Amino acid sequence: MTISSTKSPAFDTKKTTEIIKLDLNENPLGPSPLAISAGQQAMFNCHLYPKSHGLSLKKTLSIHLRILAENITLGNGSESLLELIVKTLLSPLNSAVIPKFCFTGISKILKTANIALKIAKNSHLYSATSLLEAIEPCTKIVFVVNPNNPIGNYMNTLELEYLLKYIPENIFVVIDEAYAEYVETKDYPNSIQLLMQYPNLIILRTFSKFYGLAGLRLGYAISGIKIATLLKQSSLSFNVNSVALAAAEASLNDQTHINSTRLLNKKGRAQLSKGLQKLGLGILPSYANFICIDLRSPSWPIYQQLLLHGISVRPLHDYGLSNFLRVSIGTANQNKSFLNILEEILVKSTMGECNAIR
Ligand SMILES: Cc1ncc(COP(=O)(O)O)c(C=O)c1O
Repeated sequence: MTISSTKSPAFDTKKTTEIIKLDLNENPLGPSPLAISAGQQAMFNCHLYPKSHGLSLKKTLSIHLRILAENITLGNGSESLLELIVKTLLSPLNSAVIPKFCFTGISKILKTANIALKIAKNSHLYSATSLLEAIEPCTKIVFVVNPNNPIGNYMNTLELEYLLKYIPENIFVVIDEAYAEYVETKDYPNSIQLLMQYPNLIILRTFSKFYGLAGLRLGYAISGIKIATLLKQSSLSFNVNSVALAAAEASLNDQTHINSTRLLNKKGRAQLSKGLQKLGLGILPSYANFICIDLRSPSWPIYQQLLLHGISVRPLHDYGLSNFLRVSIGTANQNKSFLNILEEILVKSTMGECNAIR
């Protein structure tokens, strides 16, 4: 069989009873049990519009993050907030700077809004200088994805402070921190602390990843009150649902689930890193809940073979990284199955037995 297109093969239903989903960086533990029961409870009142535009969740977040509720804008997933920010703050006369290998959701939203894209010339390392160098007179916004998806690196405090110090005040800096809760490194920036000093800063977070609520669609932006007011003016009246609001608030207070998520990810990262290194593969250092693997040969056939064995991971050809795969950190059993099957596929491919790779 020759692989000529990048169309996904169907799962082999005879071989596969359950799909191991390691493609979208979801929480393998699922949602917090407290979130499930709060969501179920909220269903009894779902004939009513959400109460006070999520004020209760905003208040809980404000306590957790030590900011004012007025600094928070809620959205139907952080992707919808990215769209709201672009719609509110940019016009087609502007350009936007994004890092190389940046989350595709951002470039898609910018392209749809007819905003010119300037891609910074950074390598796998994240430098403020490369973003600053990409700025042109019509640039109105610079995106930092921290940690970055798909390559998993992060911009440290020094670099971020340098960026904020030297960027013109009329350019917004949006930091997408979808994976912030996973980072345990000391020099990861506390961006919220920088808000007072830099009113052009907007931080995005989500309940989709660490809190395991991807299906409910809830994200939030943290910004100065001036930007929050602008975002509120251009957002729809009821842009988040009451079940998501209740579940998110309960998740923030479920310390057991928070601890278990952090521990599972830490152990899983070690398990996968060790296993992948044993297979002789390259891995990029990861600070989030996924690992970027360098297969040192085209990854698409391996991706397809994994899929046929019921394991879904993310090939990165659309990022120009055609030798790479991104794998989400799963449960110990999921990681083990992934490593075993990957080994089997790689062995077959070196023995020339795997038709798809020939
Ligand atoms: C960096 C980054 N930002 C934003 C999102 C979208 O998150 P949400 O589910 O909150 O829309 C993702 C999802 O994969 C992501 O990787």
